[in-house]
Amino acid sequence: MKRTIIACMASLTAFPLLSSTVVAQHIIPTPLEMKYSDPQQGNFTFTADTTIVADETLKNEATALAASLAPATGLKLVIQAEKTDGKQIKLALDPALKDLGKEGYTLQVTPTGIEVKAPTATGIYYGIQSILQLLPAEVVATQKQGANWSIPCVSISDKPRFSWRAFMLDEARHFKGEKEVKKLLDQMAALKMNVFHWHLTDDQGWRIEIKKYPRLTTVGSKRTDTQTGTWGSATRTGEPHSGFYTQEQIKDIVAYAADRHITIIPEIGMPGHACAAIAAYPELGTNKKPIEVMTIFGKAYDAYDPAAETTYSFISDVLDEVFTLFPSKIVHIGGDEVRFDHWKKSADVKKLMKREGLKTMADVQLYFTNRVAGIVQKKGRNVMGWNEILGDDLHGFLKDGQTAKAASLDKNTIVHFWKGSTQLAKRAIKDGHTIVNSLHSQTYLDYGYGNISLGKAYAFDPIIKGLTQEEEKRIIGIGCQMWSEWIPTVKRMEYQIYPRLGAYAEVAWTAKENKDYQSFKKRMVRQFKCWDIQGIQYAKNQIAKFSASDFFNHVKVDNWTPAQTPKDWKNVSFKTAGKITSAGNYEVVFLYQKGTHALEISELALLENGKQVAIDKHQAFSGGQLKGIIYKLKLPTFKKDAKYTLQARIKGSGGTDSHGEIKIRSGE
Ligand code: ACM
Repeated sequence: MKRTIIACMASLTAFPLLSSTVVAQHIIPTPLEMKYSDPQQGNFTFTADTTIVADETLKNEATALAASLAPATGLKLVIQAEKTDGKQIKLALDPALKDLGKEGYTLQVTPTGIEVKAPTATGIYYGIQSILQLLPAEVVATQKQGANWSIPCVSISDKPRFSWRAFMLDEARHFKGEKEVKKLLDQMAALKMNVFHWHLTDDQGWRIEIKKYPRLTTVGSKRTDTQTGTWGSATRTGEPHSGFYTQEQIKDIVAYAADRHITIIPEIGMPGHACAAIAAYPELGTNKKPIEVMTIFGKAYDAYDPAAETTYSFISDVLDEVFTLFPSKIVHIGGDEVRFDHWKKSADVKKLMKREGLKTMADVQLYFTNRVAGIVQKKGRNVMGWNEILGDDLHGFLKDGQTAKAASLDKNTIVHFWKGSTQLAKRAIKDGHTIVNSLHSQTYLDYGYGNISLGKAYAFDPIIKGLTQEEEKRIIGIGCQMWSEWIPTVKRMEYQIYPRLGAYAEVAWTAKENKDYQSFKKRMVRQFKCWDIQGIQYAKNQIAKFSASDFFNHVKVDNWTPAQTPKDWKNVSFKTAGKITSAGNYEVVFLYQKGTHALEISELALLENGKQVAIDKHQAFSGGQLKGIIYKLKLPTFKKDAKYTLQARIKGSGGTDSHGEIKIRSGE
């Protein structure tokens, strides 16, 4: 048996990338390389005599594995430092695997043993997550279950595509509390996400205890009312809303995250999105006037006074306390959506501009950000901010070309790209900045599924076109953001987050060439079962729904236009554009693009030199809604010199003005 393992290990790097035919495994995100051993080898079964072998350096990970297995299996696996007889799960650091990086691992499963090896404890932890996902979904239950605790014999070699795999929770707008945060951290860890971006301060609430400034929470964590519905609405809850974390609670959550190999990046927003702090200490604002913690949502007028030294000493003091709580090397300072009205009217800001040679309001914000970056760097940390910190006009607040002229952003500052042309992110990269890509239209979890379907979330690729390979490395990953203005309840929050979190986990971890939406959807079936057991209220209908972006890895072979669209049922021919290249399964989809009326399809045939060789008969509708638009064709034998065409029976649905694409992919 030992020889088999060694043979497996030796050939590991030579495995072909996971093909779409290997979908029986359930791991999300898909590993880099995975191979089932000889099917004769069967399974590894967890039993009462299974032991975990790990030395002291991996005690946390070994304990996490035993603790994850115990409730549902009833097995209390013993952890020991040395191998003995009996079935073993061996966890071992192996510096020779350094090519797997800080988070990669190998996992070997045979009937008599499991071995997880990695250069770091984080890699070992991720290997354990893969073991747990290979087990039946019931493993996540908190009570003993009757499942068969076996996993298939596999060999995996895995590492992430990106080092920054973030989920952001906005608790300033609606406070959810410690229990919910821990539940989210558990889900992130299972999906191998490693950055919890915690949006803790905003106009509508300050949620972190700062001992030097008690009013930040005695005043700033409370609001008297809350706008409901959507932007600009006149409806209110009529109820106060409040909540904050004590420093003890934060330490506990930071440790909980660290046990799961998750870094928490706190976001302390400035100079805008600061009304809760200004309500607590009006002298922080440019106007020096008392204000209330905001009860409505949108872009506020009040902002910290960039011309007052006391602003910077306040920020420095707050960050001193923040840094004692969060070991992260990076602090997020927001920087988004500053309205400059108060700054424009301020005599002190005018003086500041004159003194520092600042030409525009964007320059003033850059001056502010660079000052804060300097303060933060002196404390041994670094700053990250939304891409407004570059000084571009994303909101029309910098009219008359008032974008940054004089100042330029500190190059160590990490730019969190969320809005505007990708050219802005590209320019920042070329200027030497590191980028996290959280483009709102692709990654905002507060957006409905109509805007960002599960497939669209899955299709997101954070790499921006037109960069050199070296420049691409400056895009360190992605974030997905749960903004909570209109998300007061946990139920609603979970509906928005899940299942899209699974898609973003795979976007961030899985090699681009291994991304496969159809396989993902199949793997999500087990994940749904886990969430059902855990009581997570995910959006259940998302697997069945389609949008055009679900088919990002299908290849376009032809179009339909009004000219080809008949009023009544008729056979119409379409090209295969050389994409039929072997015998086997093909999937053809009809994707509506524009027009008032949809296209209806009743059957699709594959013709070989004009003769039908495969057919799928079913009704489909391709318009604003996409129903039944996938046709499956199986070509029994391929003839090299034959001409392959598609023949669809179609009609316009009440009109013939639609346009769309016909896309194909093999292997399904
Ligand atoms: C943002 O959505 N205001 C970063």
